Amino acid sequence: MITITVNGKQRKLDVEDDAPLLWVLREELGLTGTKFGCGAGLCGACTVHVDGKAQRTCILPVKAVDGKAITTIEGLSPAAKHPVQQAWLIEDVPQCGYCQSGQIMAAASFLKTHPNPTDEEIDAGVTNLCRCGTYPRIKKAIHRAAALAAGKKA
Ligand code: FES
Ligand code: FES
Repeated sequence: MITITVNGKQRKLDVEDDAPLLWVLREELGLTGTKFGCGAGLCGACTVHVDGKAQRTCILPVKAVDGKAITTIEGLSPAAKHPVQQAWLIEDVPQCGYCQSGQIMAAASFLKTHPNPTDEEIDAGVTNLCRCGTYPRIKKAIHRAAALAAGKKA
């Protein structure tokens, strides 16, 4: 039995220890905002926060997060008021959208440690892939989210 807190709610789950967290979130809990991309820890489509830090969940056994707090895209800010979500809307970032919940979760985690990032820090710190090539808008939106979080005018 695994106990995790997901988006503020404690969950007790009877799942295999080595089941990837991504499948537990999607199949057991119905949280399908987190996506499956490469399945090999490379693309970041499956990114959620584990105790506040971005983690790729397609290769993360659920046992490794026993007792921890998980935040998915559904729980980042239910009213979409998180500065990253607001910035994403303003900059109209998504194209197909498939990678975007992972991008948003990676950016939200990154900004906690880089509240005023340079372009180079963004390149090094947010490495999620986007097949649609929305990278320029992602970068603009991360800068805008940093400004929004600092209380500057968007
Ligand atoms: S699906 Fe997890 S990193 Fe690609
Ligand atoms: S918006 Fe299509 S993969 Fe990123």
